[in-house]
Amino acid sequence: MDIEDVKKAVAREALSFVEDDMIVGLGTGSTTAHFIRLLGKKVMEEELEIYGIPTSHQSRLLAIESGIPTVSMDEVDAIDLAVDGADEVDPELNLIKGRGAALTMEKIIEYRAGTFLVLVDESKLVERLGQKMPVPIEVIPAAWRAIAEELEVFNAEAELRMAVKKDGPVITDNGNFILDARFALIEDPLDMEMELNSIPGVVENGIFADIADVVLVGTPEGVRRLER
Ligand code: 5RP
Repeated sequence: MDIEDVKKAVAREALSFVEDDMIVGLGTGSTTAHFIRLLGKKVMEEELEIYGIPTSHQSRLLAIESGIPTVSMDEVDAIDLAVDGADEVDPELNLIKGRGAALTMEKIIEYRAGTFLVLVDESKLVERLGQKMPVPIEVIPAAWRAIAEELEVFNAEAELRMAVKKDGPVITDNGNFILDARFALIEDPLDMEMELNSIPGVVENGIFADIADVVLVGTPEGVRRLER
């Protein structure tokens, strides 16, 4: 079983959380992309009345391609379910997200969802956040250098994320820059999440403490379910 098969299996399992008439937050990334495609099939085959709320241009385009009608947050009273991937998951189900630079809309939507369901493979499980991945921080462009310097107070080394098929820095869907911050130690994820967001010029950071309800973990042996 290769990694894409593992991701597909997790995405398939996530379909069991979807019911007719739901408003579903659509996450960003390669695992969620499988989920969006499978959800489109389910909606068509079972003639379901589902609306998706995309967290990024990527998920909006995929939803359109998959035949899932989309709405924006200000058109709905509530979000029933949000489904998204993650870059790290600790034993308390705190997350690091934002490799795809979509962390701000992801957090806005997932924070408000009735159920936030996370889809990962077992390589994403860590003992402590920051073990493998930096914490992405979306910042107002004019403030990036000042914020990078300020992060030294937290013992973090921050790097401006550069684009691959574009010269210069990555520009988020909201028109901002991303700093990737490597921390020596993240002792209290919730506290660190709050502290980072209190720096002027920080739009949002990729620590998602205390908001995941269920994590589905794909392994070659099958899908495991972790709950808070
Ligand atoms: C995008 C994200 C992704 O959900 C996260 O990076 C996981 O992606 P993948 O499923 O491709 O590993 O946070 O901003």
